Amino acid sequence: MCGIVAYVGPKDATPFLLEGLARLEYRGYDSAGVAVTGRTGGLKVRKVKGRVADLAADVPARFKGTTGIGHTRWATHGVPSDANAHPHLDGTERIAVVHNGIIENADELRLRLTVDGAVFRSETDSEVLAHLIAAHCGEGVELEDAVRAALGKVVGTYGLAVLDAGQPDRVVVARNGSPIVLGIGEKEMFAASDVSALVRYTRQVVHLEDGELATVRADGFRTSTEDARTTHRRPSTVDWEMDSYDTGGYDHFLLKEIHEQPGSVERTLSGRLDERFATAHLGGLNLDARELREIRRVKILGCGSAHYAGEMGAQLIEELARIPAHSEPASEFRYRNPVVEADTLYIAVSQSGETYDTLAAVQEVKRKGGRVLGVVNTVGSAIARECDGGIYLHAGPEISVASTKAFTSTVVAFALLALHLGRIHDLSPADGRRIVSALKALPGQIREVLAQSDAIAELAAGYADSAGMMFIGRVRGYPVAREGAQKLKEISYVHAEAYPASELKHGPLALISADLPTVALVPDDELLDKNLTTLGEIKARSGRIVAIAHRRPDARLADHCVLVPKSEPELDPLLLNIPLQLLAYHAAVALKRDVDKPRNLAKSVTVE
Ligand code: F6R
Repeated sequence: MCGIVAYVGPKDATPFLLEGLARLEYRGYDSAGVAVTGRTGGLKVRKVKGRVADLAADVPARFKGTTGIGHTRWATHGVPSDANAHPHLDGTERIAVVHNGIIENADELRLRLTVDGAVFRSETDSEVLAHLIAAHCGEGVELEDAVRAALGKVVGTYGLAVLDAGQPDRVVVARNGSPIVLGIGEKEMFAASDVSALVRYTRQVVHLEDGELATVRADGFRTSTEDARTTHRRPSTVDWEMDSYDTGGYDHFLLKEIHEQPGSVERTLSGRLDERFATAHLGGLNLDARELREIRRVKILGCGSAHYAGEMGAQLIEELARIPAHSEPASEFRYRNPVVEADTLYIAVSQSGETYDTLAAVQEVKRKGGRVLGVVNTVGSAIARECDGGIYLHAGPEISVASTKAFTSTVVAFALLALHLGRIHDLSPADGRRIVSALKALPGQIREVLAQSDAIAELAAGYADSAGMMFIGRVRGYPVAREGAQKLKEISYVHAEAYPASELKHGPLALISADLPTVALVPDDELLDKNLTTLGEIKARSGRIVAIAHRRPDARLADHCVLVPKSEPELDPLLLNIPLQLLAYHAAVALKRDVDKPRNLAKSVTVE
């Protein structure tokens, strides 16, 4: 949510800033801005409502400086506008600030600064930072000290970068709840809110901790705490490949990421299956078999699609390990003063590892003495670091706002965990082998579904102009229906509602007519007959049906059908979900939506 970039070095900062912002645009894209300074002094600033491409078109050739900061915004305080775009400046236009996060006491600070003569130009909470830092920038005061003093008065979360025309050889960055990563180059330094802006320039990075500041100069950096103690940070190497950050010949990142799933699932499984003992090895759990046996319940916490993946995970754990498991939106859990039990294993799920609500839920559990594992894609992210152990997905960077490959890898990670827990409890070696072979077969089976992309595109075009769509599934199929509906509404803006198929006749059947098509999950499992009965009930009300099935239902029961290869029943939801990703993608394309950057959304939600 919102992207930050910064550069200090011998070159012109602007090309890096604009390119870095374009790479971060998936994090927020309603306005963008840059500020640069250099030896000649003074700040140059450009900011516009719109996309990074609009900003690039607005930046003149003479807009040069060797030190600079940039920002792409997802509006929280104040509408998207030129004035509300970052960077924000103080009254003398000496200090420029870009900020991610929320300043909770912004109103109070604004009032005090106004009394002292500050004139505000925007409606944002972030602008107070520029005025506050400037107020501490007296004669001879180091920028870092002024930033530290200002942050001492701030309540809230931030990842920020500050430029001072009076000290043009440096950028000061700080982190509290919103990520900042430094990139180490050859006689030049970078900073960003996300490594994706840096990988073209360097693989050597330092992730700041919460409460840390850094002064970044061309020849290096110095990190310190809020109370000015120097910290010693060793760089780590980013291992994600550069080609993860472009569309690689696909029309959209989303389509590329959907098609990457055979490979990303292989990476999630890699080195973790143990055929000899018919189980899974998960080195990062930091819990031995004895500790795992003591677990009486599992509570899974995540937001949006991560929560739906958690629902699939809960079913896998209950089925394979026979441990009661439940997934709850982290955004709800954190606010309801939850009971935290010593014999419950808490699992936080997050692709980005940054989602604020999920992080806050983890902190709430830990504060009450609970044990939390993370199922996370982004190595070294805030949630990964806050957890006591966990499973990394290794799905590779996910750029499109809508989650697809990370979703699938999350469910695979839960299948591994459920298998591991199951084999510690009562899952038989034969059942363990059954799951191991089914997991190994997944990449090939996903390829079979992806091969139907063109047929699904045709189907999607036929349904895209519907006013809404119903998604139904029973038991294992219900989280699939929820995720399918989520994907459709998120990227095509077609209203979609997910219901347990069993609940249809308890209310929503009243909605069914020729105008409301239904996508029905119809696996060939012990509930097949029940599902076919539900299709009959919909057909009797003239409803159109797209069945996602293992066997083609009678033509009187489904207008269209997408066939999916059969796995083991516990793993079927994984494969049933893949056509729904393609259905949403192709519907969005048919409707000419901005597939990778749907309106009103941003990739990682680092605010409440
Ligand atoms: C849906 C989607 C969101 C995220 C949610 C959690 O396609 O992407 O619902 O799943 O915001 O994000 P992470 O997994 O980064 O915590």
